[in-house]
Amino acid sequence: MVNEDETTDSGRTVVVTGGALGIGGAASRRFAELGDHVLLLDRDRAAAERTGTEITAAGGRCTIVVGDITEDATVASLGATIDEVAGGRVDVLVNNVGDFRPAKAVFHKSGPEQWARLHQLNLWHVFTVTHLVLPGMIGQGSGAIVNVSTVEAYRGIPGNAVYSAYKAGVSAFTKSLAVELGPSGIRVNAIAPDLADTDQTPAAAMLEGRDASLVRSWVPLGRFGRAEDNADVIAFLASDDARFITGHTIPVDGGTLAASGWYGRTTQRGWTNRPDGA
Ligand SMILES: NC(=O)c1ccc[n+]([C@@H]2O[C@H](COP(=O)([O-])OP(=O)(O)OC[C@H]3O[C@@H](n4cnc5c(N)ncnc54)[C@H](O)[C@@H]3O)[C@@H](O)[C@H]2O)c1
Repeated sequence: MVNEDETTDSGRTVVVTGGALGIGGAASRRFAELGDHVLLLDRDRAAAERTGTEITAAGGRCTIVVGDITEDATVASLGATIDEVAGGRVDVLVNNVGDFRPAKAVFHKSGPEQWARLHQLNLWHVFTVTHLVLPGMIGQGSGAIVNVSTVEAYRGIPGNAVYSAYKAGVSAFTKSLAVELGPSGIRVNAIAPDLADTDQTPAAAMLEGRDASLVRSWVPLGRFGRAEDNADVIAFLASDDARFITGHTIPVDGGTLAASGWYGRTTQRGWTNRPDGA
């Protein structure tokens, strides 16, 4: 199908879940800078209003929807807002909400309630919100969906086996849906961040009591990620520049997946695959 609607990136309607802070906040600001109308959904009203005010003060367009995306009522309210302010049209959907924190235990000590909450926070809403916007995208014959997975969809993370399983599900969903929707002119991709300095994973907490200069020993590009590093890749995947990319999860990790098992020597003389750094 010819995709006439993807000839320009400006003036689109872009939904960002968890769009107030962190990676989602940076994505909301980036899309607004591009001239898009951002529908920012977040459960944190104060943070959503702060980001919304920042966007409009900079001349951008932003509509806020407040609610927990894991609740059906919030998804319904997002649908009503899309109808009201965008005539039912969504050009870009960023399924950004996700959280590893409900499970801070080894798997054998975790339980069904924890698994259920992790499911809601990391996978279920990706289905419900995508399901909400797809009829419109299919009708208009265009659209881009960007999901937020994690490097832990590819690399083990002890203590977070359930989280990583759901995030791997996000990447698998991305692939299969991309194949299903290609003929409808809709692209589906994802990003896989490694540690990004956000409220969920503050770099300062990771580095507390440690020598910050050693970050380069496990991140080839020598620093932790920033929300903006991820937002820029989300914006790229949603743009016409990515018009022939679909079904992929792009790591935004400073090279950590590529380096898995390799450590920068503390002497700064090259790399080693010996865990003692020698
Ligand atoms: N920060 C990292 O290092 C990292 C690494 C890998 C993957 N990720 C993924 O990136 C995404 C964003 O992470 P972040 O670090 O920016 O998160 P964050 O916790 O710093 O920010 C999340 C935003 O989403 C909102 N939010 C959280 N739960 C919500 C809910 N149920 N309903 C509505 N809004 C909700 C929060 O209020 C906040 O504005 C997540 O999917 C996360 O799993 C992050």
